[in-house]
Amino acid sequence: MASIADDEKGHELDLFCVPKHYENDLERVIIPHGLIMDRTERLARDIVRDMGGHHIVALCVLKGGYKFFADLLDYITALNQNSDKSVPLTVDFIRVKSYCNDQSTNRVKVIGGDELSKLSGKNVLIVEDIVETGRTMETLLSLLSDCKPKMVKVVSLLVKRTPRSSGYRPDYIGFEVPDAFLVGYALDYNEYFRDLSHICILNDRAKEKYKV
Ligand code: IMP
Ligand code: MG
Repeated sequence: MASIADDEKGHELDLFCVPKHYENDLERVIIPHGLIMDRTERLARDIVRDMGGHHIVALCVLKGGYKFFADLLDYITALNQNSDKSVPLTVDFIRVKSYCNDQSTNRVKVIGGDELSKLSGKNVLIVEDIVETGRTMETLLSLLSDCKPKMVKVVSLLVKRTPRSSGYRPDYIGFEVPDAFLVGYALDYNEYFRDLSHICILNDRAKEKYKV
């Protein structure tokens, strides 16, 4: 797993292209888009190596997981079409909500998506954007186990280093990140910042500005 240290300064905003409407909202760029893509390519290779024997159902945890999901699946597809061995890959979507402003709430709600019962007997790869307390993933895994899938693996692009963690660790981790509120690459703050391609640290002014 790649680790981004707590004292990592990241990069100044004006070294990269950032949408004008967010220029005053961000502290630093912490993971540039290109680095996300390079790490994702390697995660795809590791996943295919471990799960590549059977049909994989990739389950996207919406909304935050959608960019990572799309890019990861592109890399898996590329591996599939360029090697002697290949596996069918199908997709499913689930929507969960646990956050208000920059705080994880205790209730994790599944608010839509495909029927989990269809995953019975399948090799399921859950694709998530970020694990913080671990509550969302633990809830989802317990719901899923009721449906008796054959195998379940979890890949999360980010895992936050935080005392609030339950100790849960995904099977595959893109980057371990400091305990700050991160946005971009589909990670949001009250629905904003999904339209930003780098992962950035939000500043305190923006937390006020976009508060609900
Ligand atoms: P957990 O249940 O505390 O592990 O939180 C997981 C969910 O909270 C993730 O799926 C995200 O949607 C959201 N989340 C946690 N930390 C952040 C963050 O830094 N930025 C944006 N969303 C976050
Ligand atoms: Mg999420």
